[in-house]
Amino acid sequence: MNIHFGADYYPEHWPEERWETDAKLMREMGIDVVRVAEFAWQKLEPSEGRFEFSWLDRSLEILAKQGIRAVIGTPTATPPAWIIERNPEILPVDLRGVRRSFGGRHHDCQSNEVYRAHARRIVEAMAKHFKSTPNVVGWQIDNELGNSHEDFCHCDSCRAAFQGWLLKKYGSIDELNRRWGTVFWSQTYDEFSQVPTPAITPVITHNPSLLLDWKRFHSDLIVDFAEAQEKIIRANAPGQFITHNFMGFFDLINYFDLAKGLDFVSHDQYPMGFFDVPQPMKDRATLAAHLDLMAGLKGKSFWIMEQQAGPSGWMIMGRTPRPGQLSLWAAQSIAHGADAVVFFRWRSCTVGTEQYWHGILPHNGVPGRRYDELKELTTKLSPIMDEFRGALAEAEAAILFSYDQNWALEIQPHHPDLDYLKQLMVYYGAFHNANLPVAFVSDKEELSKYRLLIAPLQFLDFPELREKLIEYARAGGRLVLTMRSGVKDADNVCLTEAPLPGPYGDILGIEILDYDCLRDIDQTVACDGISYNGRLWWDVVSLKEAKALASGSGGDHDGEPIITEASVGKGAAYYVGTEPDPALAAKLVSRLAIDAGIASLGAPQEDIELARRRTPKSDFLFALNHGGKERELSLGAEWKPLVGSVKIPPYGFSVFKCERK
Ligand code: GAL
Ligand code: ZN
Repeated sequence: MNIHFGADYYPEHWPEERWETDAKLMREMGIDVVRVAEFAWQKLEPSEGRFEFSWLDRSLEILAKQGIRAVIGTPTATPPAWIIERNPEILPVDLRGVRRSFGGRHHDCQSNEVYRAHARRIVEAMAKHFKSTPNVVGWQIDNELGNSHEDFCHCDSCRAAFQGWLLKKYGSIDELNRRWGTVFWSQTYDEFSQVPTPAITPVITHNPSLLLDWKRFHSDLIVDFAEAQEKIIRANAPGQFITHNFMGFFDLINYFDLAKGLDFVSHDQYPMGFFDVPQPMKDRATLAAHLDLMAGLKGKSFWIMEQQAGPSGWMIMGRTPRPGQLSLWAAQSIAHGADAVVFFRWRSCTVGTEQYWHGILPHNGVPGRRYDELKELTTKLSPIMDEFRGALAEAEAAILFSYDQNWALEIQPHHPDLDYLKQLMVYYGAFHNANLPVAFVSDKEELSKYRLLIAPLQFLDFPELREKLIEYARAGGRLVLTMRSGVKDADNVCLTEAPLPGPYGDILGIEILDYDCLRDIDQTVACDGISYNGRLWWDVVSLKEAKALASGSGGDHDGEPIITEASVGKGAAYYVGTEPDPALAAKLVSRLAIDAGIASLGAPQEDIELARRRTPKSDFLFALNHGGKERELSLGAEWKPLVGSVKIPPYGFSVFKCERK
């Protein structure tokens, strides 16, 4: 499938006379795919069962004449007003019991059978209709599932669905009471029908075990909602692929689960956000991490289904990307495993909430700077992208990624600034800055292909995973565990069998009898005579079989070991009892990488990111200049330039190729 670049296209926002001009301009820019229709429910089904697909047929035909393919979005994120008028019960209820109104999007409850029946009808009709449209290559289910469902939905349907999910999990209410410890505060239930959703209580919160199961239930519900659509599309349009647009580190869905039923995942990359104040240009490591997570979800290359195409905002706006940055971000995505990049959106719209979310074309539809820049990008990259289609970095180091751990720590972060994803980023950033490829893996992944595995914050203990990690180290792997590991069981209840780090104590060769939540202070750490900082948390570690690699220096924890190493079978297990500052993480990661014999892609150089895609025969090296100054690389003669040269302009990039020995 020789698709490389695309645009998110809304023909329904423009007069039909314009469609041909759009298609021609797209072709000239090097666009070979559009995503369409993901919010067009009302235009496709203006009243129940009356389907109007002819406008989309006409648009697809015009695109086909220019050789442009299409991905069709199922429009289930925008149930039209006529549905809401008839079935207001499908509007979601928030945690204060307020029913949210029609007028935005995702005004739906995903457990509601009435909404699901409406969704099945439109999806089935579309799948049957577009299955034989020659230029329709695939489907996007819904749009950014979970987005705008922050604390939804607490309606009667969701409450019943949650109770049914619990019944299936626990079998009896006594078992649930026992495992959740509902004896605390007299919360023992007689029947599943008494169990609430975590709507707001006088003390705001709920039992941590209930909260964790609610997050799991919520994730399962959304995955089930997606699967219902996948089934219909597979049955009716079997020749077309199915994907979904994910949102990087979004935390309401276990993305490994959501990815399972899809042919490949897609991601929406918006480097300059606008919601947060101050304006949060995501740093290059975070952008790279989102991409590496996408690659890790199925161990497969992916698409970018939306990439920022200009300044963006709803009520307020972010900054305007510098000349070159749009292309640089696309190149970064491709460097980390994207096989196609689709820009959001084709043309800035004149109506609706997203008037200032600029597209490739400005409001007046006349190609300008962004169009020209992206045309240059497609001209450079499209001709070489098939050479590494499907290939990934083939990293030799990995970071374990767990939604359960993230959820449990969201419920009880311990320290106000402790954040699972941020701690992952401390380690990820160390690999990234050293140009060491690193993969994100799930607990299901085959670990033996990695020489080094960091498994941060193994807070909840899953015996099967624990055995796998221990076996990994015994067989020769280097396993790094961090603070707050082995604390609780999978029900979010504290373990009591052994001192901390619980069942990991033996392989780590340590014991933790005390700890200190570092409120308002950092603790200085000495390692090889250099001072660093430990942050957020301090485990008071006693050495049993391990040796200390770093210890507290001065302050309340002077002399206490904080990074430890123990040999285990053919491998080694490390413990880091604090959140290391970036310099300490960098030191640890580079030391472990050297010990494990993992080579970096090149010496770190200011503003330059190096990333690799590896095919059986060749390595492709992307050098990305994230800064506003020209940079020059020093590369071995084996690297032949495919795009650009060793001199990389501000916000520019180059691609090199080398045959593998
Ligand atoms: C994405 C979403 C798009 C559009 C864009 C700009 O999150 O998928 O539909 O809303 O943001 O806000
Ligand atoms: Zn609901």
